[in-house]
Amino acid sequence: MSDEWVLDNETMRVFIGAVNDIRIREADPQAAIAAIRPYFAELLNTPDWLPAAYQEPAADSGMGSGIGMWLLYRADDGSLAFSALVVPPGAQTPVHDHLAWGLVGLYRGEQEEDVFVRSDNGVDDHHADLVLSRRNRLTPGDFYELLPENDIHRVRTTSAVTSVSLHLLSNDNGCIWRHRFDPEDGSVQPFRSGWLNVPCADEKETE
Ligand SMILES: [Fe+2]
Repeated sequence: MSDEWVLDNETMRVFIGAVNDIRIREADPQAAIAAIRPYFAELLNTPDWLPAAYQEPAADSGMGSGIGMWLLYRADDGSLAFSALVVPPGAQTPVHDHLAWGLVGLYRGEQEEDVFVRSDNGVDDHHADLVLSRRNRLTPGDFYELLPENDIHRVRTTSAVTSVSLHLLSNDNGCIWRHRFDPEDGSVQPFRSGWLNVPCADEKETE
């Protein structure tokens, strides 16, 4: 296997190259995130490197409502994935976790993010008592950090155009099994978002 450059251009090479250099020297997630922040901020403010095709919602997305994630780059060992999440106007993701550290930033449109924390002891895989802890409004250029201990949220698009947010995560977050939550009844379900444009390893065998 080798790294997958689904989108390959100069901006991508500079950004991912910087991220991979940082990952080699910073084992601590918070130190890595801190070092990546300026490169991520610059990327969010750079026009014209993300083709329109990766900013389009998808009718048959696994997350429903046209919501989906376009994979742009994936490390060969699945330790890093960079993608674009598209959320049509008025659509909202389920409440979900990421099980990874990362950075998420808005590239186009506007979003509201609801951040949840667990008020239980966090050990039950089938039930979680969630409390809304924060509501963030995001406009292009805004970004936030995710850490495994603080990574439960949902996002919705509040603009008249499809929002596009860039996700840099320290796992293959389209293919791993993670969790979706119902904050009303506390239920927790296994959740895999998939990628709109690339199969996961165990999907390739059936195609
Ligand atoms: Fe998310």
